Amino acid sequence: MPTRRSVLASLAAGAAGLGASRPLAAAPIRLAAVEGEATVLGPGRPASRVWRFVAEGAESAGLFPVLRARAGERLAVTLENRLPQHTSIHWHGVRVPNAMDGVPYLTQAPVNPGESFAYAFDPPDPGTYFLHPHCNESGQSGRGLLAVLVVEGDAKYAPDADLVVAVKDWRLAPDGAFLPFETREGAGRAGTFGTVRGVNGLAGPMSATVPAGGEVRLRCLNLDGTRILRLGIEGAEAAAVAADGHAMAPVAVDEVSGGSWRIGPGMRVDLLARAPARAGETLRVVDYGAAEPWTLATLTVAGEVRARKRAFDPAGFLRPPGLPRARVEGALRLTFAMSATAGASLATEVLGTLPPDDPLAAQLLDSLCVRDASLWAINKATWPTSANAALPPPLGTIAAGRTVVFELVNVTPHPHPIHLHGHVFEVLSTSRQRLPRHFADTVILDPRERAEIAFVAAPGDWMLHCHILEHLEYGMMGYVRVA
Ligand code: C2O
Ligand code: CU
Repeated sequence: MPTRRSVLASLAAGAAGLGASRPLAAAPIRLAAVEGEATVLGPGRPASRVWRFVAEGAESAGLFPVLRARAGERLAVTLENRLPQHTSIHWHGVRVPNAMDGVPYLTQAPVNPGESFAYAFDPPDPGTYFLHPHCNESGQSGRGLLAVLVVEGDAKYAPDADLVVAVKDWRLAPDGAFLPFETREGAGRAGTFGTVRGVNGLAGPMSATVPAGGEVRLRCLNLDGTRILRLGIEGAEAAAVAADGHAMAPVAVDEVSGGSWRIGPGMRVDLLARAPARAGETLRVVDYGAAEPWTLATLTVAGEVRARKRAFDPAGFLRPPGLPRARVEGALRLTFAMSATAGASLATEVLGTLPPDDPLAAQLLDSLCVRDASLWAINKATWPTSANAALPPPLGTIAAGRTVVFELVNVTPHPHPIHLHGHVFEVLSTSRQRLPRHFADTVILDPRERAEIAFVAAPGDWMLHCHILEHLEYGMMGYVRVA
């Protein structure tokens, strides 16, 4: 029977080698967006026509390349678009200069088929991040166009294992063909769920071996477009030590404490666990958010029992983040209400007058990454508000350097993970969830919840949107202008 490793090795030509790391040369990493075959469904099952990033010489976590950078040092990546449609790279969670933010029409021109775009910036904050396109995202990320970015520099010591657990479900039929990524029922409610659960680009849970008694860092990323995960660990002591890449006061997530940590689409949590002491024992990362708890990763202890170097002390693992704490007295306060909308967008009205195969219809749908209807809104404005190749006005305007408090209000019966580009904010309060004060780039708003976030505004036009892909694509998206 083929092993997971042999399955990975049989992925489409151009697959990145496992374990190899890139040379220290300052040459840009070439990241190609390509179409190819991969056996996502598993060994002996039909292959699927995936879209993926391929980075020569980079590590990978299954289908997803893992890029590595160091905080404060230059990261240069040249995107080569070999897909049949335009794309771009958004560095989710990274405080990049606005021109590097990767939003077609807002911060850069779309990167057309055959074209390249050079991204270069110094990621300021260590942590666990990812990259994804920012137009037709459910179709592009839905086919697998995603990569992980690890920015080193936060750990006080090297753990005994450091693993990526990137969760993404797939919309696949049993014959390996992709099913429609969007459905009107899903788009108007909680989103359209995958038919096959997966980790690191392959169906089913991941598995790995870990040293006996070792400290294991688990970089858990929710790369799914729909599902909200509730993560816990069975079989070991564990704690959540970083939210969206930023160290926080540890929160126990083991079965003893009955704890778990929720991450919506786009969110990350780093867990630190102490592996069991006896060979053959396992610890499991479990998603309790599903109807039935689902194991995401099974880690099996291999090898000799190692003398424990130190007591398990999750608080002593990461350095505190170097982010300033926003002083909220006198801050500019802006309120954003997330709602459903009954109204059709102008795009719908114009499209309604055109036969569906009219080339103008296709052009219109591409013109601003719009869909044929708007179902969701922020402050009653929906993306787009105009069917022409003109951007809607910003949701708000802020002076650069100003400390800002956003009050985010959810007036819908569905949760929305709300993401702000280009900033790391402090989650000051959430009215329905009991969360510690922490830094993040995305915050879940439960139904009828109100949350307050604070940050210092950096110059640029920055997207604010729900990270459930059908919600942003059907209107719950806008931007703030910091000038
Ligand atoms: Cu990952 Cu505009 O977001
Ligand atoms: Cu949403």
